[in-house]
Amino acid sequence: MTKLPAADLQLPLFAYSQRESLTEKRAWIALQEHHQYSARHFRLERLFAADPRRGETLIAEAAGIYLDYSKNLVTTETMTLLMQLARQCGLQDRVEAMFRGDRINATEQRAVLHTALRKPASERLVVEGEDVIAQVQDVLARMEVFAEQVRSGAWTGHTGRPIRHVVNIGIGGSDLGPMMAHEALRHYSQRDLSLHFLSDVDAAALLETVRGLPAEETLFIVCSKTFTTLETMTNAQAARQWLVQQLGDEAAVVRHFVGVTTNIEEASRFGIDERNMFGFWDWVGGRYSMSSAIGLSTMIAIGPQHFRDMLAGMHAMDEHFRTAPLEQNLPAILGMLTVWYGNFFDARSQAVLPYSQYLKRLPAYLQQLTMESNGKQVTLHGEPVDYQTSPVYWGDNGINGQHSFYQMLHQGTQMVPCDFIGFCQPAQALEQQQELLMANMFAQAEALAFGKTVQRVREEGTPEELVPHRVFPGNRPSNSMLIEQLTPYSLGSLIALYEHSVFTQGVIWNIDSFDQWGVELGKQLAKRTARELIDHGQPLHHDSSTNALIRRYRACQGG
Ligand code: F6P
Repeated sequence: MTKLPAADLQLPLFAYSQRESLTEKRAWIALQEHHQYSARHFRLERLFAADPRRGETLIAEAAGIYLDYSKNLVTTETMTLLMQLARQCGLQDRVEAMFRGDRINATEQRAVLHTALRKPASERLVVEGEDVIAQVQDVLARMEVFAEQVRSGAWTGHTGRPIRHVVNIGIGGSDLGPMMAHEALRHYSQRDLSLHFLSDVDAAALLETVRGLPAEETLFIVCSKTFTTLETMTNAQAARQWLVQQLGDEAAVVRHFVGVTTNIEEASRFGIDERNMFGFWDWVGGRYSMSSAIGLSTMIAIGPQHFRDMLAGMHAMDEHFRTAPLEQNLPAILGMLTVWYGNFFDARSQAVLPYSQYLKRLPAYLQQLTMESNGKQVTLHGEPVDYQTSPVYWGDNGINGQHSFYQMLHQGTQMVPCDFIGFCQPAQALEQQQELLMANMFAQAEALAFGKTVQRVREEGTPEELVPHRVFPGNRPSNSMLIEQLTPYSLGSLIALYEHSVFTQGVIWNIDSFDQWGVELGKQLAKRTARELIDHGQPLHHDSSTNALIRRYRACQGG
């Protein structure tokens, strides 16, 4: 990519940045007053009592997702003010700029076009002279041919055996999306193919993964946007060595390794045949890449048609985000509620609670999506923000959470807004288990919102000394997302919903949601430190804590 001269770099930064500080905007000031004089005194039981239809009106629906946001500490006035803030921050212009392919990732001078990955083949999107949809469809078509070959057994390994085990080697966005989607869509997967995900550079990860795998039936997909990520390259080299050792022939690599990358040169150097490489583009951020060729393992598992269905679900949510009025716009509502709690109620975290075994990796996936995107401390201008940005996203399968951390959600001292996600139809049914599962989700949201008063606890005959322990304060906000069934389509729309919620938050905070400079320092230091751990003769010039830790490590190693 041509590098722009430094002076020109200024332009896009300012083009998308808000000149007026967020905290000086009229809607922000109005929200502060609204919080100070009304909202901080809101009680959900009173809001529900005052409006018997609240649970039917504070809802929005799109692309198969029904969002009930009535159990939030908001009134219609709050929502109006939040959407005024979104408008004053130029949300809709920024949405258009993203979809158009403007270089809204200003610090890296890149367009942000993951939405182009899921546009129908019939559309065109010309960005800087090139139709990106045609490029996307070319890669998709090549992926489909390859995926079908692997699924049918037509793609054989070096010894002529069909592939039955697929190992995705990648980290961050080159791992979390495919891993989460594999878990989520297991029901749709071809069961005689096993999928594995190798990300950690801890040798145990690789050794435990390949243990028992027949090399002649194993395919490695090396996923790395840059093809320079140390962990991925180290694992890819070690996997290559294992394969060559097992099959006794260097020539085996070409049938057992394929690459997904924007860096063809490096992937060729590794020994991957260019015909077995699947490209993507610098306008796809790592954490936004599961709908690109990074999803190759997903496509192999669930098949091309289901992969296309997932893209269709994403596209449906993309279009909803682009066109729906903010008041009915799911990502805008979700994003603005996060702003509301973080910036006005000082909530520091957000829990994601899927009531689905298949979505157990969703919280891990969302942690990168949300926190790598919005964990920023300066505006697009480079000025320090004077407000909180990304909350900590965390969570787990809801039912398991109920038996561990929900105690804190109900009676702890912090406000933790929760996203409940559940399905009407199970992918697989056992008598009444779905009812039991969903009854828990509805019950938890109800308990968080309305709690249990001292009076009710007493009425139950609780001994007086236990009364304070058994009171539930309630008034704890949550969203409930109800989806007909977990399918490739609904997974796609759910992921796109969170992507655009993150985008909405980033626009309000006036930050670059698409760079990740914060990961660099640790990487640099680790390189130097690795040399010191290998060569015990290297002098140490760290702080006294790091020096002492390294000396102790060296001593344990016997050096
Ligand atoms: O270090 C962070 C990061 O750059 C993520 O943003 C990215 O998803 C991950 O590393 C992997 O990068 P790559 O796909 O280039 O190997």
